[in-house]
Amino acid sequence: MPLIILASPKGGVGKTTLTANLAEQLRRQGRDVLLVDLDPQNALRLHFGVPIQDGSGFMAERQHRPDWRQHLRRTASGVLLLPHGAMELRAALDLAIALDRDPALLATPLREMLADPGLLVLADLPPGPSQVLQVAAPLASVIVTVLQSEAISAAMLGEVESGRFLGGGTLGALSASRLHYVLNSVDFGSPLSRASAEAVARHLGPKLLGAVSRDEALGEALAHQRPLLDLSPAGAAAQDLRQIAAGLDALVPASPSFPAPQPVPAPVAHAFHPPATPPLPAAAYPLRRAW
Ligand SMILES: Nc1ncnc2c1ncn2[C@@H]1O[C@H](COP(=O)(O)OP(=O)(O)O)[C@@H](O)[C@H]1O
Ligand SMILES: [Mg+2]
Repeated sequence: MPLIILASPKGGVGKTTLTANLAEQLRRQGRDVLLVDLDPQNALRLHFGVPIQDGSGFMAERQHRPDWRQHLRRTASGVLLLPHGAMELRAALDLAIALDRDPALLATPLREMLADPGLLVLADLPPGPSQVLQVAAPLASVIVTVLQSEAISAAMLGEVESGRFLGGGTLGALSASRLHYVLNSVDFGSPLSRASAEAVARHLGPKLLGAVSRDEALGEALAHQRPLLDLSPAGAAAQDLRQIAAGLDALVPASPSFPAPQPVPAPVAHAFHPPATPPLPAAAYPLRRAW
């Protein structure tokens, strides 16, 4: 039922990396997770072994209104993944215009996903203001804003907290109360990174869900197209991610009307290139109940 979106005023701050790895951690905590890529970069799938040449996805064909379920894939740990799909610049601009005219193009499938009370939906957004953010933010229970541990993030805090990058005006102000923050790439060896992180943490207080240390293992995990939690489960970033996932779990507890899902057993280690995750056959979905 709940929707958590990961957004940021700035690109390259680790949104996609954190979305992928938080979804994995939440799944391991026993949640049923649907991961939706709303960023035309179409990079979320790469964290789960979908081959780079496989460009299919639900947003790329949105204007033809296909059933989004036909693009679902199940990752090794059981996270359900909806890739964005590859798009040329022209097609991405056309889609943004179509969404501006008809927000239901995205709002309808999102509402269908949220209709399942047992499902936690996590969406990766493009950086900065966007049409998809305007549609998704009003539906989200939690808006996680990812900031990087650097001076510019500390300087931008007032602007970010106003919610203006979520759409401005009254809509932005309404969304602002659901804003939470994660500080990424904290480098304790760098006095500037540390000072920025401390300033941001002091300012945000409990709105800061957690901080993730700068850890090469996150890039290595992406290079292997494997979750960090498989490759470096005891590393600094993995520990930070567990803490943030626990915070999110508490903010959007599992629906009490369903029996608590069993914790997922640790996945069996596989070779350097994991098997591609093909689209789920229609018969394999719904997983537990009708949509
Ligand atoms: N905590 C971290 N430590 C080290 N590298 C990181 C960390 N978080 C993200 N990265 C790296 O930063 C780059 C950008 O991350 P990405 O998730 O693509 O950002 P965004 O989605 O915000 O554009 C990637 O190469 C990723 O591996
Ligand atoms: Mg990204």
